[in-house]
Amino acid sequence: SGSATTVAAAVNPFAPQFRSSIFLLPREILMDAANRSEDVEQTLQTQVKAFFDSAPPLHNSHDITQKLNQFIQRNSSSSENGDARRIVCVTSGGTTAPLEQRCVRYVDNFSSGHRGATSTEYFLKAGYAVIFLCRRGSFQPFCRSLPDDPLVECFEPTNDLDIQVRNAYSETVKRAIVDHHTAVAGGHLLKLPFGTIFEYLQMLQIIAVSMRCIGTRAMFYLAAAVSDYYVPWKDMVEHKIQSGSHLLDVKLVQVPKMLSVLRENWAPLAFCISFKLETDSSILLNKGNAALEKYKMHAVVANELSTRKEQVVVITRTEKITVLRDNSESDVENPLIKLLSERHISYIKDSSR
Ligand code: PMT
Repeated sequence: SGSATTVAAAVNPFAPQFRSSIFLLPREILMDAANRSEDVEQTLQTQVKAFFDSAPPLHNSHDITQKLNQFIQRNSSSSENGDARRIVCVTSGGTTAPLEQRCVRYVDNFSSGHRGATSTEYFLKAGYAVIFLCRRGSFQPFCRSLPDDPLVECFEPTNDLDIQVRNAYSETVKRAIVDHHTAVAGGHLLKLPFGTIFEYLQMLQIIAVSMRCIGTRAMFYLAAAVSDYYVPWKDMVEHKIQSGSHLLDVKLVQVPKMLSVLRENWAPLAFCISFKLETDSSILLNKGNAALEKYKMHAVVANELSTRKEQVVVITRTEKITVLRDNSESDVENPLIKLLSERHISYIKDSSR
């Protein structure tokens, strides 16, 4: 296509001898572009298939599907105000890419899970039911103000060896337990833990396909830090890699970005938000814009590593909104979730016209 464009620019396209090429060139260029995008699509499909074929199957997929169906059904019956609840899948924490089948070592992705856990609390407050797809051991909703070792730090033995909450923590512990219980017992919070990239993507697919039946009421809020490279299961050594050699030679394959598959195939009507994390703020917005276009997201939340708890930028096709936390005591997720919830409501209304 590069040479075709040059020819078109170098000649007078209105001269009779070039008239046929005026009509042919754009068509050739279009065909070329269409073929290329078909090739890209084909390659992605092949990579997606290879990923799922090579993944060790989830041992509890039946159980997960059952829990999901019950959760979705329960939250789809109309509430007092006549509307069925919106349901959001929040992904949180980093995925691991194992290097051995009987895994001792793995490549990890940075994410404490704070964003996902905090956002889940605000989504619940905004009236959503939340499917919390989270890395095992990462921050959990309602527990983020507890100390690192909550059991030994928040509780103490009494004289007759009963257990009581230490005075300093009584309010924090009460709030955490009551709020968590209200969300889970009320049937509005479902937690599904993952460890590896294989578990994460298989679970995300099951969730997305299960949520298809609620159409535009579904939202995906993809805050997890997902591995970019992995070792396909069939190429992975079974046992612990021995440490004799000074060079570790492991071939990592690119993880196919499932964002477009999620948008186009798994849950085409859902409102989808992905995240863009960079450490270099000068490239952040361009990368966010590119992700919006490439994966056809409804919004991209762009954040820079060192300021991620203070500010984010929400990029949509028509807006670029900087969201700031109110003060050092508050959470940026509070205004962020309010904004995204409003945009989701508009999306539902616009789609039903
Ligand atoms: O958990 P915290 O410590 O609070 O930190 C929060 C956070 C910084 C991790 C979070 O706000 C964030 O930015 N999450 C996304 C991090 C990330 O992996 O960005 P990325 O640029 O590599 O990926 C962009 C998007 O593509 C993400 O939505 C990701 O879910 C998705 N992705 C990435 C790789 C891949 N193979 N497949 C994907 O679908």
